[in-house]
Amino acid sequence: MQSRIEKVQKALNTDTCFLVTNPTNIRYLCGYSGSNGILLVSKTEATFFTDARYELQTQTECFDVTIRIEANLFKAALENEKSAVCIFESGHLTVAMLENVKAISPNLRFESSEISIAAMRVVKDSAEVEIIRNACQISTAALESVISQVRVGLTEKQVTHLLERTMIDLGADAIAFETIVASGPNSAIPHHQPTDRAISAGDLLKIDFGAKVSGYHSDCTRTFVVGKPSDWQSDIHQAVLLAQSNSRNVVKAGVVGAEVLEQTTVSLTGSGYLENFRHGLGHGVGLEIHEDPFLSRALTATLEAGTVITIEPGVYLANQGGVRIEDTIVVTESGYENLTVFAYELQEIG
Ligand code: GLY
Ligand code: MN
Repeated sequence: MQSRIEKVQKALNTDTCFLVTNPTNIRYLCGYSGSNGILLVSKTEATFFTDARYELQTQTECFDVTIRIEANLFKAALENEKSAVCIFESGHLTVAMLENVKAISPNLRFESSEISIAAMRVVKDSAEVEIIRNACQISTAALESVISQVRVGLTEKQVTHLLERTMIDLGADAIAFETIVASGPNSAIPHHQPTDRAISAGDLLKIDFGAKVSGYHSDCTRTFVVGKPSDWQSDIHQAVLLAQSNSRNVVKAGVVGAEVLEQTTVSLTGSGYLENFRHGLGHGVGLEIHEDPFLSRALTATLEAGTVITIEPGVYLANQGGVRIEDTIVVTESGYENLTVFAYELQEIG
């Protein structure tokens, strides 16, 4: 099987080298997970440069590259480079870094790369899916455990810390992103930051969280009710669940990304809540929590098997409360596999 570096080399012209500086892309191509590293790939060579602090780490992590330990990475990489053109990641290399490399190699022509490592990362191999599946299982097991312990009077911050600690206890390396625990009116804020607010009877409780394992992320949201739901709470939960399942159920290899969003749009139009849904429907998940593809009206490309995405519609009523339901799923030829298996119904807790 072709290595990731070989795929890049196949796309490169013979007179061109590729300066990779985005740490996530470096990790994807050659395994290095530390900081202060750059990767230079040409048609026939691939060299990774870092400093002495990381020498031992490179020996255990790196694959498919020659390793060079240097003090001045850009100088070492480019000073004697014989290519005519050096392509770089314009989404990552800063203006100051570009000026620096131009001064180091005045004879090289620097151009923004048309080779996208982010695009290469969209379709996951089976080993990557297995790691994300594990991260998702840790997340949902942690939520099962924590939700049974949530009581009236616990604060959003206390629930957050309990959930995060439980994920680490179950094997996560870290949390995937800042956990959202949003109670009562705070649940109407899509990206609420947990506060000292105590959970009260009658609250909606929205929990959006994930685990990180071996660099890969999971992303899951469920919304609960403390005690019995009122009519409006049941109504918006039902509307979001219908939208989420309608979108999920059209996912399979070959479906146009925008079509997945269209299902939510039609569903929330039918229930009358479209104007209360004002964020993207979902995003790719992998070495980054938010990565390509992003599920929007603009996504005219088709989804490929092996792509890991979230489906996360929400309905938010300002000053009242909100519901979001989110799964991380992997696209298959015949449909999808849900990686965040957790009950969908509006669970009464507390
Ligand atoms: N789960 C957080 C987000 O996707 O923005
Ligand atoms: Mn998400």
